[in-house]
Amino acid sequence: MNPRSLRLRLVAWYAGVLTIVFVLLGVLTLFFLQHYLEANLLDTQAQRARQIAATLLAHAGANDEPAVRTQVENLYSPEANDRFIRITRADGQLVYASGAPKDARFDPARVPPLHSGDIDGKSRKVRGPDGSLLIAALAATGTDGTRYRVEVGAAGAPIEATLIHVLIMLAIGLPIAVCVAVAGGFVLVRRALDPVERMARKAEEITQHNLSERLPVVRSGDELERLSVSLNHMISRLEEAIHGSKQFVADASHELRTPLTVMRGELESLAQDGQLRGETREALGSVLEEVERLAEIVEGLFALSRLDAGEAHSEWVRFDLTELAATTAEQMSLLAEDKRVSVACESSPAVIVAGDRARLKQVVVNLLDNAIKYTPSGGRVALSVRRDNGHAVLEIADNGVGIPADALPHVFKRFFRVDDSRSREQGGAGLGLSIVKSICTAHSAVVEVTSAPGKGSTFRIKQPLAEDAAAHSR
Ligand SMILES: Nc1ncnc2c1ncn2[C@@H]1O[C@H](COP(=O)(O)OP(=O)(O)O)[C@@H](O)[C@H]1O
Ligand SMILES: [Mg+2]
Repeated sequence: MNPRSLRLRLVAWYAGVLTIVFVLLGVLTLFFLQHYLEANLLDTQAQRARQIAATLLAHAGANDEPAVRTQVENLYSPEANDRFIRITRADGQLVYASGAPKDARFDPARVPPLHSGDIDGKSRKVRGPDGSLLIAALAATGTDGTRYRVEVGAAGAPIEATLIHVLIMLAIGLPIAVCVAVAGGFVLVRRALDPVERMARKAEEITQHNLSERLPVVRSGDELERLSVSLNHMISRLEEAIHGSKQFVADASHELRTPLTVMRGELESLAQDGQLRGETREALGSVLEEVERLAEIVEGLFALSRLDAGEAHSEWVRFDLTELAATTAEQMSLLAEDKRVSVACESSPAVIVAGDRARLKQVVVNLLDNAIKYTPSGGRVALSVRRDNGHAVLEIADNGVGIPADALPHVFKRFFRVDDSRSREQGGAGLGLSIVKSICTAHSAVVEVTSAPGKGSTFRIKQPLAEDAAAHSR
């Protein structure tokens, strides 16, 4: 798949943004969860500290401290419950300190004492080697006015375990969520861009020969519908413009034919006047030659415009291509003899094709004419017709001047001549091969050429046999 395709880029952006959003969301979730759980835990510890302060210390004096110790042990059993409880006098004298918890998560002896004077409602987090300890602190006053500090704490380990659990869930769930979202996005984008793909495929098929066809219009009411409608309008305008220019060529060539015929007739009869001076006769001869050339060009243009209009189908018959090739070669043998070029026609069994016989004869004439024209005297031209898997293949090969490789792709273009000066000398207008191509296209035939300069050229036409041609035209 094309890495720069809109589909891939959209999905890549979508996946990137989604991942960032999910990761941010995950981080925020963890952050707030930690704060919530820690605040909750501290709240419980603070409540316990208040209980100790209100129920035990508020009713005791300095002398009752041993009793307070036992009561705390009995009521809260901090070691068994993995709790930290410490009571100190304001002067720093220790009243009570819980022992090491049974899971040994923290060492109470190493929990640093409180320093600040005002400790009421203070909470802190002490980091130990096996995790943190969350401690809430409170001030209390005994019956004799002794001031105490109560510290109650619990291990942060369960919170950390919960956070790790959530983290693992996020680490597994997040990529899955991103994958599912990206797959969904991919399908959506593909569906959204599908009309573009279809439009591109159709646009690729539309050429000047099938300009009446239109791009598929998606009735989605969105930008794509607008685009397809606009492109179709553009194709309509192009169709009109091309039709107009074709019509112009057709009309012009049609209109030019009559005056040219009249001119040629007049000039020919003038040239026959025996009283003309030598120079005048010569000048007349050269004018006549140019008029003939002009008439040939006009005929060529007229033929092309009729082919463009699809008139090749008018006289569709079945006939033997071998016979057509042989008679045409026979008819052109005089021209070949003039140039001392031999034309050999390979006789073979009948190859029946369907089409406009006169037009296909024109193809053979044009190709033979070129082969003879572009082969120096003493050269050979070989013509053959054969069957080749459902096709009739007509081949005209010569050992003449050949066509340079850079000119080969252009020989079927209108008015193209490899060597303008040489062709002009030989009277070509550069329309012969484009007529061949147009006729072939109208007959579902393909024409190809292979050539080596100095060695010769071979023109090959592949046309469906009559049975297949019938299917084609249907
Ligand atoms: N058999 C061939 N050998 C060499 N060159 C050829 C041959 N057929 C065509 N060409 C080249 O292709 C050009 C186009 O041919 P065509 O359309 O028939 O025009 P033209 O009127 O010049 O014959 C010719 O001018 C010629 O240069
Ligand atoms: Mg020609």
